[in-house]
Amino acid sequence: MKRYRLALLPTPLHRLPRLEAALDSGPLYLKRDDLIGFGLAGNKARALEYLLGAALAEGADVLVTGGAPGSNFAGAAALAARVAGLDCEVLVSGVPPDRLPVTLELARRAGATLRFTGADRERLDELVDAHCAALAAAGRTPYAVPRGGATPVGALGFAAAARELACQLESDAELAGPLGTDAVVVLPTGSGASLAGFLAGRAAVGATWRTCGVSVSRPRELVGPHVLGLAGRCATLLGTPAPTEADLHLRDAVGPGFGRVTDEDRRNVQLALCTEGVLFDSTYGAKAITAVIELVRAGERAPLVLWHTGGMPSALKLLAVPGVTG
Ligand SMILES: Cc1ncc(COP(=O)(O)O)c(C=O)c1O
Repeated sequence: MKRYRLALLPTPLHRLPRLEAALDSGPLYLKRDDLIGFGLAGNKARALEYLLGAALAEGADVLVTGGAPGSNFAGAAALAARVAGLDCEVLVSGVPPDRLPVTLELARRAGATLRFTGADRERLDELVDAHCAALAAAGRTPYAVPRGGATPVGALGFAAAARELACQLESDAELAGPLGTDAVVVLPTGSGASLAGFLAGRAAVGATWRTCGVSVSRPRELVGPHVLGLAGRCATLLGTPAPTEADLHLRDAVGPGFGRVTDEDRRNVQLALCTEGVLFDSTYGAKAITAVIELVRAGERAPLVLWHTGGMPSALKLLAVPGVTG
């Protein structure tokens, strides 16, 4: 499968000794896709390398995708299309806001056409397909990408990430000791593309790490079958065994709603900031660090690897305290 390089890989993997001391926990590690080095794409740079590779291989001239106004993926996809020489059209749910959020401003500056659909975000994938059909009828060669890049091809990005993690462990004895066999990898999960790809890649490299998806937008009963279906189709592309239900552990972390944090999330984000100097966003990272801390408090002593997936635009929002100005 063709890959169009965007990211600086491997992303760092390091221990969090001060957070461990504060929590009196077992070994904690952070995998730094927030430092992936392409725009503000975070983990989404991985999926986009394969999606752009496929779009170019098919001779596409325009990438069409969709997202909610705060979608990190939409901004990253627009930037990736631009650097790869493709046009980009982004279908956005709802109506135009007074001021574009950072993610859409990034898409706009990358030259993407933004089309506000007035529709719910759940309808965007079908609107993307319809828009591609209209573009094709007008003589263009579109490449359709559903929300979050959640296709078997997009999932290949995190299949490669599982291989990357395995290589990091192999080449570093200090990591291989604690993380080689019984680590738990905690991965925030929205569209499911990253988790699906990671499960497929984990099976492909024969790793035994447990994998915990922290579902931030949908209940577990919906996410599980969706992720396993996508993981199976990704494994078919790889020619490797399909992950099974036994490989998948999910935590329901929707809480007060998508992108909405609890006081506990805020305290945990503050703890990570003040012990390790790491920022987390409100939609994904805050819920993932809370999941890690809950696992520790429930007595988990196995080494935990928290996959930091980025989300910097909303990390800055989380720092904005009412009444305090910079
Ligand atoms: C910062 C961040 N983390 C995690 C995710 C979830 O990844 P996925 O959609 O592959 O489940 C996203 C999705 O957009 C994201 O932007």
